[in-house]
Amino acid sequence: MEKVKTNCIQENQITNNLYKVDDQFEDFLKSIELDGILEPLIIQPLNDKEGEYEVVSGNRRLRAARELNLKEVPVVIQETKLLSEELSIAHQQYREKKPSEILREVLNIKERYGLKQGVRSDLNPKVKKGQELKKKMVKKHSKTKIDKLVKIDKYLKVLSKDDPTVYDNELHRLDKSGSIDGTRKRLEKKVKESENRKKVGDTFEIIREKIKVYQKSSENLSEINDNSVAAIVTSPPYYDVRDYKLGKNQLGHDLSADDFVNRLVSHFDDCKRVLRKNGTMWVVIGDYVKDYGYTAVAEKFLVKMLENGWILHDKIIWVKNNPVYTSSNRCVLANEFIYVFKKNKFVHYDESWVKNHQENIGFVKLGNEKLKSVFDFRDNIVKTNVANNYSLRKECEKKGFNLTHDATFPISIPSIAIMTSSKPGDLILDPFNGTGTTGQSTLHLGRKYIGYELNPTFIKQTEIRIDMPFEDDLEIAA
Ligand SMILES: C[S@@+](CC[C@H](N)C(=O)[O-])C[C@H]1O[C@@H](n2cnc3c(N)ncnc32)[C@H](O)[C@@H]1O
Repeated sequence: MEKVKTNCIQENQITNNLYKVDDQFEDFLKSIELDGILEPLIIQPLNDKEGEYEVVSGNRRLRAARELNLKEVPVVIQETKLLSEELSIAHQQYREKKPSEILREVLNIKERYGLKQGVRSDLNPKVKKGQELKKKMVKKHSKTKIDKLVKIDKYLKVLSKDDPTVYDNELHRLDKSGSIDGTRKRLEKKVKESENRKKVGDTFEIIREKIKVYQKSSENLSEINDNSVAAIVTSPPYYDVRDYKLGKNQLGHDLSADDFVNRLVSHFDDCKRVLRKNGTMWVVIGDYVKDYGYTAVAEKFLVKMLENGWILHDKIIWVKNNPVYTSSNRCVLANEFIYVFKKNKFVHYDESWVKNHQENIGFVKLGNEKLKSVFDFRDNIVKTNVANNYSLRKECEKKGFNLTHDATFPISIPSIAIMTSSKPGDLILDPFNGTGTTGQSTLHLGRKYIGYELNPTFIKQTEIRIDMPFEDDLEIAA
């Protein structure tokens, strides 16, 4: 087999650019150290330099040879007329590609052959050639996959304007997770959120007579007097699910389940101060699978709250009629808990609205017609659909805004709490306001509302929500 000195061969920079990320090089190096280079490198002569070559296929082998101080490597010398990019791609075609590598190949073809929307291939042979290459890629990887990757590139270009490291970091993360669709959705949301931020700025609050939403952490409720709130109704951030990029006060991200629960329990300390002596605090909390098993945050939270002096007045199970389907070897997760805490023995707890509406429970009235409703509350089980924010999304879009919150609860949940544990004119608090679903129900039911939220764009979404016409499937006793 022919051999060439390592110092007479250059790495192929195009291949390096296309197939950058190499986190298994150490293992590769060890295997070369043990067995030597078994497969020859493919090289081609450099046009202008006698006796010097460029790699066509084998950058990693050349790099390993240099690291191991090998003077020569086995080669096959190829005389070629093909463009370097085409050669690189052709020589890598049998290897399983990472998503970032497929993306770089597509982008390379687009750029090199001037593929743009509206450019006609019948008039331009170069474009025609590019389209043929792209077609081959589509055949191999599917159009949907390529389109999603191109979208990922588009989103990353927007996001890396502020921080250029984002592009490579995100692609690295994509290669590790392998989830193209998940990455596309996450990045799309990030882009929408950054568009929102540009419109709203860093601060946004709602200060009106009947509703106030403060942009600050709800650990400290200094705006609220002692013993003044009839009911606290809230759904805290999910554990380790969503990073709203809101700094260290943000709950739910990057902690162990126990740390999260401890922080959440002490977060509610000031709620005890502001809650009336006969008030109740309704906390909607669900569980989450992490590292192959349930975290049991809801159960851990309950135990810690009791240890912290709260009394558990009631326990309701919220069953979702249309939960998110999860493919795994466990049941679909279709419920969350609603824990009703109190600080004293006696509370205002009026369920007469349930009896008054017994006939209508499970139904809604539309004109003269009674239709079956998705809402059903019997014993300690409430069944509803998950939140349907279609109207809010449309309303936001009308105002040139994106609805970016994806963890809202349906309005029937806070409505049950408010009707049961307060009277018209009372003050209701949601320390984790989100898009203000509790606020919307509060106003509809003639109570007053205070919310706390770290993210100014969610407060803007709250403003849009409370100003839009009220519609819901639940007949609420106003
Ligand atoms: C599950 S969401 C609430 C959704 C709300 N129930 C709705 O229907 O729109 C939790 C919210 O808590 C906010 N949050 C996280 N940490 C917070 C903190 N320390 N103080 C106030 N809000 C916080 C998050 O930004 C997020 O919007």
